Amino acid sequence: MRIIVGISGGIAAYKIPFLIRHLKKIGAEVKCIMTPSSIDFISPLVLSALSNEPVGIEFWNKETGEWNNHVHYGEWADLLVIAPATANTIAKLANGACDNLLLATYLSMRSKTLVVPAMDLDMYKHPTVLRNLEQLSKDGVHILPAESGELASGLVGEGRMAEPETIVGIIQTILAVEPVLLNKTVLITAGPTHEAIDPVRFIGNNSSGKMGFALAHRALQLGAKVILISGPTSCHLQHDALQLIHVTTAVEMFNAVQIHWKESQIGVFAAAVADFRPLKMENTKIKKSGDLLSLELTTNPDIIEWASTNKEDNQITVGFALETNNEKENALLKLSRKKMDVIILNSLNEKGAGFETDTNKISIFDSKGQHQEFSLKQKTEVARDIFKYINDYNQ
Ligand code: C5P
Repeated sequence: MRIIVGISGGIAAYKIPFLIRHLKKIGAEVKCIMTPSSIDFISPLVLSALSNEPVGIEFWNKETGEWNNHVHYGEWADLLVIAPATANTIAKLANGACDNLLLATYLSMRSKTLVVPAMDLDMYKHPTVLRNLEQLSKDGVHILPAESGELASGLVGEGRMAEPETIVGIIQTILAVEPVLLNKTVLITAGPTHEAIDPVRFIGNNSSGKMGFALAHRALQLGAKVILISGPTSCHLQHDALQLIHVTTAVEMFNAVQIHWKESQIGVFAAAVADFRPLKMENTKIKKSGDLLSLELTTNPDIIEWASTNKEDNQITVGFALETNNEKENALLKLSRKKMDVIILNSLNEKGAGFETDTNKISIFDSKGQHQEFSLKQKTEVARDIFKYINDYNQ
């Protein structure tokens, strides 16, 4: 779970360190964004130390010169939790105001937002506050109502921020996913392969590994054990149920798949495997001589084809196709030629789809003749769609 805790300027901000600690205990990644007025109530240093992340306050960090990108925050998080949410922040959220980093992040959120109000009892029952909360609720924001009790003003009534334990409980409910892959092992290949020409050169491609890692992340969320066999990438993932195997070449990837395929029920082959490798790797750096250099190449093993022809009834293979022309025909040909169960087509003709980008636009075809098209989405969202499709296919 990736959670942004947004803090606005209310006395209940003193409870936020406890909220962060609870969230970290349940394995969440936490980043904090504070409104400028909230730093009078709680030190950013405390929040930074507990979350282990820099705290965002201004759009621009005057000391480091760094730009705090609200769009990146909005893409990163699974949930934005605004706690405490003051009457002022609630009013701004309800009206689309955007004069601080927290409000801009709310407007950039791709996922859900939870608002946890905290204020004095008369403010909390004021018609404008009630109206703004109702508006937020209509906008799809989750509201965790304030509790009754002793307030900072000395008055007793409704307006106390919900306790951190209660907030964590609601967060878990909002983000709950049905563990449909519990007791299943999912094997995923990711990234490019590098085929050495000599000690310093290789044949490779632009695959970033982002799609494969997003798939692994989703499978883990759904309760699976994941064996992720990755070529060279800069992607990271850590989880108790993850076995991450790093490889460099297609042959190494093939060997790892051969070892682990038997124990897997679902194979998602997202790697952009090099089709050819140099027949011979030179032991020393090839020297420049003349204008022409010929390299003799040999074909690499087709990993998904091997897995598809060596599968039991309880196993399915899912492959990818990146096509530039006759996309659908080529994808369907590949589906049957490689005996896959499901193929995911992403087109290089689509802006924002394919290699290196954070987004992808896919169509899925399967061996039962079914087909579904999807819009351009973040790769994390695409991974959700893919596993939903696989789950429906397996029913
Ligand atoms: O033939 P093409 O490379 O377009 O096929 C793409 C699909 O086949 C992908 O799922 C890719 O991971 C898989 N593949 C493979 N082994 C290869 C080449 C491709 O598993 N040698």
